[in-house]
Amino acid sequence: MEILEFKDEEKYIEKVKKINNGKKLKYYIMTMGCMLNENDSEKLCGMIEKMGYEKCDDAKSSDLIVFNTCCVRENAEEKLFGKLGELKNYKKQKGAIIAIGGCMMQEKHIQKKLNESYPFFDIIFGTHTLNKFPEDLYNVLSKRLRITDILDIDGDIYEGLPIKREDKTRASVTIMYGCNNFCTYCIVPYVRGRERSRKPEDILREIKELSEEGYREITLLGQNVNSYDGGDGYKFSNLLSDIEKIEKIERIRFISPHPKDFTDDVIEVISKSNKICKILHLPLQSGSTAVLKRMNRKYTKEQYLSLAKKIKEKIPEVVFSTDIIVGFPGETEEDFEDTLDVVRKINFEQVFMFIYSRRVGTPADKMEDQIPEEIKHERFDRLKELVESQIPENNKKYIGTKQKIIVEGKSKNNENMLTGRLETNKVVVFEGNEDLIDKTIEVEITKDHVWYLEGKIEE
Ligand code: 5AD
Ligand code: SF4
Repeated sequence: MEILEFKDEEKYIEKVKKINNGKKLKYYIMTMGCMLNENDSEKLCGMIEKMGYEKCDDAKSSDLIVFNTCCVRENAEEKLFGKLGELKNYKKQKGAIIAIGGCMMQEKHIQKKLNESYPFFDIIFGTHTLNKFPEDLYNVLSKRLRITDILDIDGDIYEGLPIKREDKTRASVTIMYGCNNFCTYCIVPYVRGRERSRKPEDILREIKELSEEGYREITLLGQNVNSYDGGDGYKFSNLLSDIEKIEKIERIRFISPHPKDFTDDVIEVISKSNKICKILHLPLQSGSTAVLKRMNRKYTKEQYLSLAKKIKEKIPEVVFSTDIIVGFPGETEEDFEDTLDVVRKINFEQVFMFIYSRRVGTPADKMEDQIPEEIKHERFDRLKELVESQIPENNKKYIGTKQKIIVEGKSKNNENMLTGRLETNKVVVFEGNEDLIDKTIEVEITKDHVWYLEGKIEE
């Protein structure tokens, strides 16, 4: 693996600009999946806008249509093919360029389906060739080629890509690519390759620059952030300590760590930090030791619970969020009860719940005793009910407390109110002047609702 500079690609940005000849062109981008994909899309937007395109919310008014796909669960496929179906006529009439990229494009059966059933795309690109988007677009525009630009081997890391960020105060920074864990349900290691970490100095430089541009909340991204390896013994805990020292950064988040790699040095750094948010995402996946073993998660129910206990002892104010999959092959009623048991015990602040989705090429897809759909759904509903029953109690603990928030903007439901997020990610709605947008302020929490809290500004 090499770490390369994006500069070599910049000539294609200039070439595309030249072909487009100052025309006011529009682009539309649809991003599926996780924050890593969103961060990739910000890089795509950065490159596309440098080539002179302006962002547009409507695919059917655009000259360039980009899909950045996900393949972690099946529903993303349905969404992509549905959208492509809708665009077939528009493409025929207007000749817009359609580019499809991201995780799903790394899958052979998807490439085949696109070629057979949706042959009107112009570019498909994978997870390792994002940096070549200007070159691919140039080849389409200049040579009218249909391009498939997918690398099956791990790509290099490219530094210095232009990036167009969505938010003005919160920024995501990818610290590592790929995954070595091979959880048996998961397609990610097949489509994103093995773990590759960015150099500490590149990450720190990016965050420093962001802090100077006014960003105050940083989310570090990676499939397994706590196996970050900066070289020469420089670990995730070192990176966290160094980011802490960047003056204007106020909040640090990271997703996702793997419970098996949540080492004491990381806990130590978090406990001493004033900036690392005291909500930790600790993906459980299942509460049953037998299921966890078949998932290849490398921890037991008891180890997970004792890790959470250890963290809580060292950092009493910490809360947890998690990911849970229901209906993994062979999951018995007892196994599922174990999941509910962990949920009751930990009382997660937030639970991302997923119905197991068979992924072609993964070991779990070949396992016998797949769970019937209706049982999966029934278990999902029971888990959801339990999680929702815990929300009021979780929210009540905030009432009467003073909390720091970074004001994000006007409330979507009420023009006269502002919103922001607590350190624990809870949304707070409060009355206030527009001047406060993007500022860090303190609010007192006055009332709880299921999905948000109400607050008032300190007099
Ligand atoms: N089916 C359902 N959920 C999955 N996840 C990953 N693969 C699958 C799958 N095949 C979930 C895991 C992971 C989150 C990002 O997506 O819970 O943590
Ligand atoms: Fe998938 Fe497991 Fe890697 Fe997460 S740690 S990306 S769930 S294989």
